[in-house]
Amino acid sequence: MANPSLLILPGDGIGPEVMTEVRRVIDWFGAKRGLNFDVSEDLVGGAAYDKYGTPLHDDTMAKAQEVDAVLLGAVGGPKYDVLDFSVKPERGLLRLRKEMDLYANLRPAQCFDALADFSSLKKDVVAGLDIMIVRELTSGIYFGEPRGIYPDNEGGRVGVNTQRYTTDEIRRVARSAFELAKRRNNKVCSMEKANVMESGVLWREEVQWVHDNEYPEVELSHMYADNGAMQLVRNPKQFDVIVTDNLFGDILSDCAAMLTGSLGMLPSASLGAPMANGRPKALYEPVHGSAPDIAGQGKANPIACILSFAMALRYSFDRGDEAARLEATVEKVLADGVRTADLMGPEGGVPVSTSGMGDAILAALD
Ligand code: NAI
Ligand code: MG
Repeated sequence: MANPSLLILPGDGIGPEVMTEVRRVIDWFGAKRGLNFDVSEDLVGGAAYDKYGTPLHDDTMAKAQEVDAVLLGAVGGPKYDVLDFSVKPERGLLRLRKEMDLYANLRPAQCFDALADFSSLKKDVVAGLDIMIVRELTSGIYFGEPRGIYPDNEGGRVGVNTQRYTTDEIRRVARSAFELAKRRNNKVCSMEKANVMESGVLWREEVQWVHDNEYPEVELSHMYADNGAMQLVRNPKQFDVIVTDNLFGDILSDCAAMLTGSLGMLPSASLGAPMANGRPKALYEPVHGSAPDIAGQGKANPIACILSFAMALRYSFDRGDEAARLEATVEKVLADGVRTADLMGPEGGVPVSTSGMGDAILAALD
């Protein structure tokens, strides 16, 4: 059987730096675990603009549609701020998400014990935290029509955005959440504002419908999103999988992520419909950006990108066992006190560069 295929798009700034370490981890799994991938690499974002005059070449887009998974670093940087909106680096990423129809954005918020002191919350509130937010990514108020800024009747202006969800859009992301829950702890909390928004009423009804008809064995609860925000900082461990719309998910996932410390630690996955081989369309990427303030200095923490590859192992390649091996290795390296600059707290640790963190993870994998 052919090896699964992986398209790597390092992008800009620290993207290529962290991706170098991920490549070493991928190679380790090939050499030591017999997990071989057909890896190809291409340009995205500013790097693609510099070469092709577009942040995502059509050939790269076509390739992304064919492979089993895409792994992306980060895009953007001050050099590109002057560009027209239509060719900004971010457009490359948005095009990937849109044309691959990646409707389920998975954002884990996991607290590694060694970093619990980094949280702005009390250690016992976050220690052992392991939750997953599923954010609807391709619809809702960021896309709904009508939208725009119009003159109003009093000589002023009015800004309009429209929250719009169809039954199908809600049901498919709900299914993603219930499938995830089955691999985890069989528990989903759905968040909306059904008390004040019709789209929230539909959201609640359709999530409940998918539950009752397809996943009755999973425990489902509903919560208003504002209460959800409070509960996330009061007692985040009450949750396991949270499913919510694009706007609330944007905010709640950033909030949940920060419960656990540094941006350099946070992976994500964006999944779409199953392909012919049963694997979902998939894009994996760290949550952080291209960090121009530290780019080129060997300071970037590669863990977010390495953990994104772990998510690929679990969700695209059905190797949850190997994903767990990689995650446990990261946990061990952190417990040993190995720290990139962003993770260096008052208690100190062993300071390492980007490649030093890669070295430590590879050594611990061995
Ligand atoms: P950023 O995430 O790049 O950086 C925010 C802060 O976190 C900086 O101080 C940075 O040094 C630090 N940081 C981020 N990742 C780190 C890592 N792995 N290790 C250590 N420290 C890390 O966000 P910012 O500064 O708002 O944006 C910079 C550029 O990145 C902009 O052009 C922005 O548009 C782009 N961006 C791209 C994203 C993507 O590709 N998905 C997401 C967010 C921003
Ligand atoms: Mg955001």
